[in-house]
Amino acid sequence: MESLLIKGGVPLCGEVQISGAKNAALPIMAATLLTGEPCVIRRVPDLSDVKFMGEILTCLGAEVRFQGDSVRIQARKISGSADYDLVRKMRGSICIMGPLLGRLRKASVSLPGGCVIGARPINLHLKGFEALGARVMIENGYVRAGARRLVGADMFLGGRAGSTVLGTANVMMAACLAEGVTTVESAACEPEVVDLAAFLNAMGAKIAGAGSPTLTITGVKELHGAEHEVIPDRIEAATYAIAAAATGGEVPLRGARAGHLHAVFDKLRDTGVKIDRVGPAIVVRRHGRLKPVDITTLPYAGFPTDVQAQMMALMTLTPGISIITERIFESRFMHVSELGRLGADIEIEGPSAIVKGGKPLSGAPVMASDLRASAALVIAGLAARGTTQVNRVYHLDRGYESMDAKLRRLGARIERVEES
Ligand code: EPZ
Repeated sequence: MESLLIKGGVPLCGEVQISGAKNAALPIMAATLLTGEPCVIRRVPDLSDVKFMGEILTCLGAEVRFQGDSVRIQARKISGSADYDLVRKMRGSICIMGPLLGRLRKASVSLPGGCVIGARPINLHLKGFEALGARVMIENGYVRAGARRLVGADMFLGGRAGSTVLGTANVMMAACLAEGVTTVESAACEPEVVDLAAFLNAMGAKIAGAGSPTLTITGVKELHGAEHEVIPDRIEAATYAIAAAATGGEVPLRGARAGHLHAVFDKLRDTGVKIDRVGPAIVVRRHGRLKPVDITTLPYAGFPTDVQAQMMALMTLTPGISIITERIFESRFMHVSELGRLGADIEIEGPSAIVKGGKPLSGAPVMASDLRASAALVIAGLAARGTTQVNRVYHLDRGYESMDAKLRRLGARIERVEES
C-alpha cells in the first residue's frame, strides 16, 4: 500500500489544470446502459472509481474502451444483475439501477454496504422506483426491482438532509424510458445532476428543470448514442484553492468553473483569500493573516459537504475560533482525530466541530479514512512544519487525478512511497 510523504512549508505557486468531475462521470457512464448504441464521453478523469465503473459496465455486458481522457461505451446486450464483489468496491455504483430498470424493466444490484461518513440508506431511490410502478424487494443482500410497465408519476424525493444526488440521478434515468410524464419535487440541483441531464437529453431524453428543485421528465420509447464532455471537477478545484490558501501561495485554477463554486469562494473570501478571474483561469492567492469563518454544509448551492474536511484543515491554521457544522452526513468527522495528531485543536459537539486555530501544525504519520478526509490531511501536511506521512492514499486516488504530481508541479515537496 502506498503513502504520501510531504515536507511542509512551501507556498504553492504555478497553474493547476482541473480534471473532469468524478461525480458527473460516474452516473454519465452508467447512463450509457440506457441505449444499445455507442456513446463517447470526454474529459473522464483517470481515477480508480472511474475504472471500477468501467469494470461494472463490462460485467453487465457493455464494451468499454478507455482512450486518453475519453471512454467509448456500447451496451448492446446487457444483463440486469450486478454482484456484491463489484458493487461493494464503490457505493456510487448504485446509479446503475435506474438505467437497468429503465431499459430492461428489471434490475438486481447488491446493496451498497456501510460507509465511514454515514449510514447512507437508499430508501429515496427505491421510493422513486416504486412511484414509477416498480416492485422493489430486498433479499439476500440484493435490492431487486422489476416492472411490467414503468409509468410516469409525481413524487417528492426530499429526505432527512434534503435532496439526494444519486437518488435524483437514478430516478431521472429510469423515468426517461417510462410512459408519460414524471415530476420530481425536491430534486437535487448539483451541477453533476445538470450535466447528467444534458447527456441524457443529448441521447434523446426530454428532461426539463435540471438544476432546479422541480424536474420534469417526459418519457420516450428509446434513447440513442451520444457524445458528451464532462464538466470540470468543482470539488477538486475547491481543494486546490484551499491548498493555495493554506500554504500562503498563488495558484491559477485552469478549467475550473466559478459558477459552480460560489459558496466555497464566498467563504474563502471571508477568510481574506483573494480570488480573481485572470483570462481563462481563476487565481487564488493568500497574502497575510487568515480570518476564522463558520461553515454549515448544505445541498447545492449551499457549502458542499465534500469540501468540509479541506476547509477544516484551513481553519486549524487560522487564528481564532471557527465552527464547522456537518448537516449532510452524520459521521463525517473522521479527519478530526488525524488533524489532532498534527497538533490541531478541535472539539466535536454533536454535528459541529469547534476549531481553535492558529497554533502551527507539526508533521506526523496520519491515516486517511475516506476520500475527502485524505485531501484534508494532504493540505494540513503541506502547511505543517516537518514531514507528514499520509497512509492509505488509495482513498485519495479514488477522487483526485495524479494529486501528488499536480502538487509537485506547484512546488510542493511530496512523494509517493511504499507504506512502511
Ligand atoms: C453524492 O453521494 C456524492 N457521490 C457524494 O460525494 C456527496 O457527498 C453527496 O452526493 C452529497 O453531495 C457521488 O456523486 C458519487 P446523497 P450520494 O444521496 O448521492 C441521505 C465524494 O466525496 N439519503 O445526496 O450518495 C444520505 O444518507 C462523495 O465524492 C437518504 O437518507 O449522496 C445523506 O445524509 C462522498 N436516503 C443525504 O441524504 C436516500 O435514499 C445526501 O446523500 C439517499 C440519501
